[in-house]
Amino acid sequence: MPTDTNLSASSAKPTTIRAAIPRRLLMCPPRFFDVTYSINPWMNPRKPSDGALALLQWERLRDVYLALGHAVELIEPLSGLPDMVFAANGATVVDGKVLGARFRHMERTAEGPAYLEWFLRNGFDEVLWPEAVNEGEGDFLLAGRRILAGTGFRSDPRSHAEAQEFFGLPVTSLTLVNPNFYHLDTALAVLSPDEIMYYPDAFSPGSLAVLREMFPGAIEVAKADADVFGLNAFSDGYNVVLPQAAVGLVETLKDRGFNPVGVDVAELLKAGGSVKCCTLELRQGRG
Ligand code: ARG
Repeated sequence: MPTDTNLSASSAKPTTIRAAIPRRLLMCPPRFFDVTYSINPWMNPRKPSDGALALLQWERLRDVYLALGHAVELIEPLSGLPDMVFAANGATVVDGKVLGARFRHMERTAEGPAYLEWFLRNGFDEVLWPEAVNEGEGDFLLAGRRILAGTGFRSDPRSHAEAQEFFGLPVTSLTLVNPNFYHLDTALAVLSPDEIMYYPDAFSPGSLAVLREMFPGAIEVAKADADVFGLNAFSDGYNVVLPQAAVGLVETLKDRGFNPVGVDVAELLKAGGSVKCCTLELRQGRG
């Protein structure tokens, strides 16, 4: 049920009515957060990171979700798994079906079974342990009733076929080419069932052409906003929670009738993650 509606303020454009749909989210408190290894260009173990600050910023993000009316479930973090805070990578959940994650790097492999166990203990009975490497919602984004799937750095393209077969939904493969945007959710955000925003330079020429074909009205985001992980955003259909440093996106989103909500998660960016990375959506039924 929509909780909040809004009429777009822009008079030049047709009125857009947006409704926020309450979501059920899974998050993992970063009690063991640290940068002890490097598996993406953002991670520098020699640079100091502040675990207490990371936890504080994460708590604010959780509070923003709660204030917006979303339900937040928690998974216990495990010591020795500093990236477990990035719950988006833990699985992909559509229609109550759970596709487990199989990580590319051995530093994170133990997270796959840890997340899967949470699902088995929390009443999700349709669960698949995958054969191909896939890093959950890091590379699988649901747009309406289709899945946009990233590859190039982390998820194996074979996982795209596996997801299509398991969920019974069309999967569109997109190839990422810029190592700074190594997961699809760092380069593209789904705003509503048929609206997305993305950073064109993160994609191969063919994948960019596919995006332009599928979403001719999409927001193409500038480098300055992509570089501060502005695309690592969570949308409930009206509110778009995103890193506050992505200032260039504020007006663009407002113009389209969305309500941008900036949060400071700068400490987590030292591990190459931001808002969306901390957020896994638990999609129960259809719709
Ligand atoms: N340090 C983590 C990694 O490189 C960051 C994961 C970010 N998560 C995401 N959904 N993009 O795997």
